[in-house]
Amino acid sequence: MSNIIDDILSSLKKSKIFRNRELLLPDYVPDELPHREDQIRRLVEILSPIIRVEKPNNIFIYGLTGTGKTAVTKFVLKKLYEKINNSFIYIYINTRQTDTPYRILADMLETLGVRVPFTGISTAELYKRFLKKVSELKPIIVIVLDEIDALVKKHGDDILYRLTRANYDIGKSKVSLIGITNDVKFIEFLDPRVKSSLSEEEVVFPPYNAEELEDILRKRAQLAFYESAISDEVLKLCSALAARDHGDARRALDLLRVAGEIAEREGSEKVSVEHVNKARVEIERDRVFEVVSTLPFHSKLVLLAIVIGFREKKRSLTTGEVYEIYVKLTKKVGVESVTQRRVSDIINELDMLGIITAKVVNRGRYGKTKEVNLAVNEDTIIKAITEKDNKIAGLWGR
Ligand SMILES: Nc1ncnc2c1ncn2[C@@H]1O[C@H](COP(=O)(O)OP(=O)(O)O)[C@@H](O)[C@H]1O
Ligand SMILES: [Mg+2]
Repeated sequence: MSNIIDDILSSLKKSKIFRNRELLLPDYVPDELPHREDQIRRLVEILSPIIRVEKPNNIFIYGLTGTGKTAVTKFVLKKLYEKINNSFIYIYINTRQTDTPYRILADMLETLGVRVPFTGISTAELYKRFLKKVSELKPIIVIVLDEIDALVKKHGDDILYRLTRANYDIGKSKVSLIGITNDVKFIEFLDPRVKSSLSEEEVVFPPYNAEELEDILRKRAQLAFYESAISDEVLKLCSALAARDHGDARRALDLLRVAGEIAEREGSEKVSVEHVNKARVEIERDRVFEVVSTLPFHSKLVLLAIVIGFREKKRSLTTGEVYEIYVKLTKKVGVESVTQRRVSDIINELDMLGIITAKVVNRGRYGKTKEVNLAVNEDTIIKAITEKDNKIAGLWGR
């Protein structure tokens, strides 16, 4: 009897498509990073003083998403650490995930082997303990703060300021910072002292072009897929699509992985161009869902007003029309409405997120207005708004 179960389980388990699907997940750091030789060399050169237990310059790394910043930084530090682990310690923190100054300091202390209670201590006290611990240690401490734009947008640059001052406070050069951001404009918002300290060295990660993406995908596909399941055509298509989308390797790998998953679900033995196209739709749907379902309440209402207006009028809407419908919705839910000015800002925000388009049009003596249109699938929006928000779900039901 148990043979039957084993048979079924093993037939389910055994993929015809993937040799090892996990190698396509975003967190995997590959052992080879083609087309990033320059950036790897620069980082190793800048970090090389640690061999003599001297503090390297701080480094500011920037480039668009999916250009390999996180992968290259982790790769370089890991490799260096394997070779010279007695002269430095490194701490990697993604500040989008670890998103408060308190958690960041607590994480750093814990990496250095200091236990931190959950509550009862101030951030200032944690910082003091951090300095104390660092000054007791012999090696250099390299701190990587990834996606620092997220941290600064939420909590300002105070913690960055402290960390760039840490060496003065300790009285010895021991702490080296690596700040990474996807948001190139972000550095202009930093305190000038933080900015100049953090960018003692700058390393830029340019987008990949289609050929480079194809190399990256081919290498990864060889490890992750069975040879018979993948074709040049599919690799080329994924690379071309991601190259159009600002040369994002994550997007290229996601497309390939999701296409493989769809092929598997459909019981195919090969990933086809059609699977890639389906993957595109699925990824876009997930992105929209994620963005819309995490919008603040009034932004959701404004978006819902746009959807409703569209259904009624079957043409693009003006800001004034959106506002009118929005106000009706707030009355139905029983909440106070925000000003028309604020709704206009929300419309711009939704435009920036790629959910709608809002084009300014000049109507002669009637002045300027905006033409508001939906940029993504309506059903996905409704599903994302109503599934996670009971108040609004009630509205839609009526
Ligand atoms: N040169 C490369 N070779 C192989 N894989 C790469 C390369 N650059 C990026 N990747 C992969 O693409 C994905 C996105 O890279 P990542 O380093 O997270 O980008 P960023 O941090 O710049 O947003 C990761 O899965 C990473 O492993
Ligand atoms: Mg990254």
